[in-house]
Amino acid sequence: MGYAIKRQLTRVLLLVHFVGLTLSLGTIFTNVLIERHTGSGSLEQLSFGRDLVNLSSQYLIQSGFLIMVFSGILLTLLRYGIRAPFWAWLKLGLSVVIFAVVIFALDPARSVATEWAHWSAQHGQLAPEFLESTSRAARIGRSVLFLFAITTIVAIWKPMWPGSRARRAANATVSQAPASAS
Ligand code: HEM
Repeated sequence: MGYAIKRQLTRVLLLVHFVGLTLSLGTIFTNVLIERHTGSGSLEQLSFGRDLVNLSSQYLIQSGFLIMVFSGILLTLLRYGIRAPFWAWLKLGLSVVIFAVVIFALDPARSVATEWAHWSAQHGQLAPEFLESTSRAARIGRSVLFLFAITTIVAIWKPMWPGSRARRAANATVSQAPASAS
């Protein structure tokens, strides 16, 4: 592939990567706001708030996350090929863990909380199980956010295999040596 095309494609993929990141993180914070706002209202509002949070988690956060992971994988293959640096593997591993926690723990916990919110609205009284299930969902949600923050730190800091940064620096010095000698 020509250098210019590769460069443009990398830029587009980085943009797509950031769109996915913004979609996921932006919607997570919007959900916190919805939960706060509807949690202090009537039981109907509470139930509606849970429905909104469920919908946006399924369609916006998870889609944004998948966009981010797939564009990240394509970016890595384009820039580094199959011999990707350590930080890229670390990000991939963390992303798989995040996705597994969301699918197997957070989604089920959220669904239970939503069911209790519906029950509360239908029966005109707050089910004690609702508080229990929302605090469980909130705990898992905080863990996901923590893993997200770690992945972002890895993305910016870019840790290398032990010794590989020194090897790269040495290679760069060697390749510059004739230029500086002449
Ligand atoms: C929760 C998941 C992820 C988050 C929060 C995230 C975040 C970021 C951020 C903030 C950057 C910009 C950093 C910079 O350019 O200095 C970035 C770039 C990048 N990300 Fe991700 N990312 C995630 C998943 C992935 C995955 C799964 C891969 C692929 C294995 C990946 C591969 C890349 C690559 C190749 C770049 C360009 C950095 C470079 O080559 O200098 N990302 N990501």
